[in-house]
Amino acid sequence: MRTQVGIVGAGPAGLMLSHLLHQHGVESVVLDIRTREEIEGTIRAGVLEQSTVDLMVETGVGERVKQVGMVHHGIELRFGGRGHRIDFADLTGGRGVTIYPQHEVLKDLIAQRLADGGDIRFGVSDVQVEDVTSDRPRVRFTQDGVAQQLECDLVAGCDGSRTTTRALVPAPNPRQDHFRQYPFAWFGILAEAPRSSDELVYAHHPNGFALVSTRSETVQRLYLQVDPQDSVEDWSDDRIWSELRTRVAGVDIKDGPIFDKSVLHFRSFVCEPMQYGRLFLAGDAAHTVPPTGAKGMNLAIADVHVLSRAMARFFATGDRSGLDAYTETALPRVWRAQHFSWWMTSMLHRIPGASGFDLHRQLAELDTVTRSRAGRTLLAENYVGTPFD
Ligand code: PHB
Repeated sequence: MRTQVGIVGAGPAGLMLSHLLHQHGVESVVLDIRTREEIEGTIRAGVLEQSTVDLMVETGVGERVKQVGMVHHGIELRFGGRGHRIDFADLTGGRGVTIYPQHEVLKDLIAQRLADGGDIRFGVSDVQVEDVTSDRPRVRFTQDGVAQQLECDLVAGCDGSRTTTRALVPAPNPRQDHFRQYPFAWFGILAEAPRSSDELVYAHHPNGFALVSTRSETVQRLYLQVDPQDSVEDWSDDRIWSELRTRVAGVDIKDGPIFDKSVLHFRSFVCEPMQYGRLFLAGDAAHTVPPTGAKGMNLAIADVHVLSRAMARFFATGDRSGLDAYTETALPRVWRAQHFSWWMTSMLHRIPGASGFDLHRQLAELDTVTRSRAGRTLLAENYVGTPFD
């Protein structure tokens, strides 16, 4: 088999890349070890920046997000027993974010690729990328028990944080330089309940951080900062609701049957460079951010926006300069998102073993940020995201 771009991974980065390439008349094949049902059924966060939604709309995959996505024009920060609204619309000239779960984005992209005659191979195994420093890199994989070989001009590693393609990029620096572990974890629940708040609530509390988010009118997503050693069994439903009500006091937390519990661990990671030979990494395969800034999927889309243009130019004219500059072009946004995610995380979480000094310093920082229009604007601009161009 031959194609122009072999894409490993059918998540937001891989599918959006395949879709954008198609718009430029470039062929691709997308491979994933997961089945279509697994991909479309895994419920993940979905806070879409304005630029992500705009790109979906401009390229013809924005119909449902426009119809059922919930536009939010602000968030609330709660600390010291009070809520402080960050008014995105007012602070950023009318911009906002759209709450639309990631698996819905994936459903839209898969449907569009298939309607456009796209080639997506679900449920493959033994995926192996080879010869990325030659002119003809290859992806080997097994499908329905049959070994296959895909010859490509270029390969995109879009296989998420458990990536295998990243290992093919030699690191000039020790990798640890770009890695940070946090002593925090989030306990996330999905509950069948009405919404507790019209906007997302990020709460600082001496017991730890809490976040009130939503998936739909009837399904709510809530998180509690917990010890990274905690497991799902440590948290009964009663304990969860009681702790949420303590940490988010002042908001009427509406409960209901909890149908999913999970513990999320925090990491920051950047692979630099994001490319090697004819292999280009995008999304979580190249970088991971803690969830506090809600940046993960948006960064994946921003990466492939840059990469798709560079690839299109290469196929149209043979000009490699965009491809050569991919890392340099994509990385500043990645590091800004790393900084923002780290900042939100460190400002809002209980630091294990912290002194009274640390707690009061955090409260003073939150006070400084929310009291000043300049402080609120800095937070708002980063949260809604800067334009892709
Ligand atoms: C979520 O809805 O899962 C969510 C929202 C905002 C975040 C992180 C996660 O910052």
